[in-house]
Amino acid sequence: MTRILLYTGKGGVGKTSVAAATAVLLSKKYKTLVMSTDPAHSLGDSLEREIGSEPTLISNNLYAQEVNINDAINSHWKDLKEYLTALFQYQGLDPISADEIAILPGFDEAAYLLYINDYVSKNQFDVIVVDSAPTGESLRLLSFPEVMRWYMDKIFPISRTAAKLARPLMRPFSGIPVPNDAVFKSAETLYDQLGNIHDVLQNPDITSIRLVTNADQMSYNETKRAFTYLLLYGYPVDAVIANKIYTDDTGDFFKGWRDSQTRIVGELPDAFPDINILKSYLQNYELLGEEKLSIFGKNIYGNYDPFDVFYKGKPIEYIKKGNNTVIKIELPHATKENLNVYNKAGELIIELKNWKRVLYLPQTMANMEPQDAELKNGYLYITLS
Ligand SMILES: Nc1ncnc2c1ncn2[C@@H]1O[C@H](COP(=O)(O)OP(=O)(O)OP(=O)(O)O)[C@@H](O)[C@H]1O
Ligand SMILES: [Mg+2]
Repeated sequence: MTRILLYTGKGGVGKTSVAAATAVLLSKKYKTLVMSTDPAHSLGDSLEREIGSEPTLISNNLYAQEVNINDAINSHWKDLKEYLTALFQYQGLDPISADEIAILPGFDEAAYLLYINDYVSKNQFDVIVVDSAPTGESLRLLSFPEVMRWYMDKIFPISRTAAKLARPLMRPFSGIPVPNDAVFKSAETLYDQLGNIHDVLQNPDITSIRLVTNADQMSYNETKRAFTYLLLYGYPVDAVIANKIYTDDTGDFFKGWRDSQTRIVGELPDAFPDINILKSYLQNYELLGEEKLSIFGKNIYGNYDPFDVFYKGKPIEYIKKGNNTVIKIELPHATKENLNVYNKAGELIIELKNWKRVLYLPQTMANMEPQDAELKNGYLYITLS
């Protein structure tokens, strides 16, 4: 079984350095791939190596990949391209080229996820370390499978049998090209693959999301928000890495910074309950090349093995209370002002600021309406009846 470790956080906090250092450490024991899903790749700079768009051997057991979307379309995702072309035709638009597909929203997310899905299903690596883009884009990546599912249910809803039946009827009237069986097959394959990777990324035995932060107020705030959204989407976060902490020998000039860092580091255990908090200090050199990364990695993890699962989050709970059902979701740092919950045709929509989660309610609960939503001790309780 493959392990997936995904590192995300605010811009510049040290995601690439921490991900690369983790991969270098892991490669001493496991067949490791470190994969950059940040379009502004800097993994190659960090490892001081030229990295290709397919897994490139860096040293014994260590592979690295900087995904290139155009290459991904042309070499791997023929199905997806055909599907999108068909979808465009289906909607009466001209067929589009690979270059044009590459700029469609959601496509790069799909390509990254499908790569990961491919490696996991072929069991190609023991561990995949993902160096991801800054928080906002990573959240989009992780919410993509659900958004895509919604999109495909709504925009592309005709089942294959329905299309078969409808085809002779539709042609004479509308002239809209009806997708053929092959198109449905590739759409289905894509749907299944995204569903599969969604399950994999939510499985705490396989995936751990690790938040890299600095001990300053701005990245701390962003990390708290990211944590809330990740839990909202049901993703397992098992560690926070507080990076670039100043050591005592940084002199008078940094005294004020050291004090505020100490305060923020002190707050981390309460802000991220049960999560492993790892402290990582500012080094007096740039972290370039395998050797320095390896030393950096040992400093971050100490006696911990980065392969281990540090914490298994709590899944969403459904609690029966008489005729009511209470849904319990861990959601620290959320405030009620930004929270909105409603049932839309059997889908429970939870909105938090500009993020939205669609929970597909089980059949037995599809007609239940949310009566009350309460935030208590870092949990959201939604009463449905
Ligand atoms: N603990 C540390 N000590 C010294 N330098 C560090 C430390 N952590 C990161 N750096 C340096 O900070 C810079 C930014 O780090 P890095 O590229 O890993 O951040 P990032 O979060 O991936 O950035 P981006 O958001 O641009 O992808 C690099 O030059 C890196 O070497
Ligand atoms: Mg980076």
